[in-house]
Amino acid sequence: MKKLIVANWKMNPLSVSEAVKLTKKEDIKGAVIAPPFVFLESVEKVLKQAELGAQDIFWEEKGAYTGEISAAMLKNLKVKYVIIGHSERRCLGETDEIINKKLTATIKAGLTPILCVGEPLNIRKKGLLSAKTFIKNQLLKNLKGINLKSLNSKFSILNSRFIVAYEPVWAISTGTTGIPAKPEDAVEMHKFIKDLLATRYSLLAKVLYGGSVNSKNAESFLKNPEIDGALVGGASLKPEEFKKIVKIAEKYNDE
Ligand code: PGA
Repeated sequence: MKKLIVANWKMNPLSVSEAVKLTKKEDIKGAVIAPPFVFLESVEKVLKQAELGAQDIFWEEKGAYTGEISAAMLKNLKVKYVIIGHSERRCLGETDEIINKKLTATIKAGLTPILCVGEPLNIRKKGLLSAKTFIKNQLLKNLKGINLKSLNSKFSILNSRFIVAYEPVWAISTGTTGIPAKPEDAVEMHKFIKDLLATRYSLLAKVLYGGSVNSKNAESFLKNPEIDGALVGGASLKPEEFKKIVKIAEKYNDE
């Protein structure tokens, strides 16, 4: 299984030239670069090894939707992956129903979703069982009514085109604690997510961990077979850090 390291640049950097500079440094095999929409085209032109991701999508195909970006627009820019339902968007009012529509549009267009789920601190404080219940509810609501058959025709994780990012909200570097989850807790949750998706939907999903991943702690997550990669925020803006994380992931790729 090949591990995937996704750079979520969030609302950074400020200019096309900075985005291009950063891309040149982070253009390595096994990486996905997800810049802001406005830099997608320039980043794509530079990429030789890494793949391209978007940070969001709109569910309608075209029409009068001021400020929105469709799946077709992303595909035309050679985007392959779409981050959906990041907790920073959920915080701004993105509901499970909206995420469900975005996921539907993404899958229909043949793009690969990276669906973000994660429990807030008050839920985690109640224990692992509460956190699992919270994550299960998010997944069931986000996947409601979606035809997943097209995604797993070969029923092989190698071909898995459905990606979940488990990002405990409190563990994100700008979140409530900014302290990464314990690797063993992340493993436990990854197992839970994989089992749920396999039994309910016959879906073999890749599950990435996200939340304060850096070059120092990356190995403790990525060495576990249940952790198929990482969604990296803050550290993805530091090319040396990011490259180290991708190199660590490479060590644990099994063909
Ligand atoms: P972080 O962000 O690596 O800065 O914690 C991860 C994310 O929000 O995707």
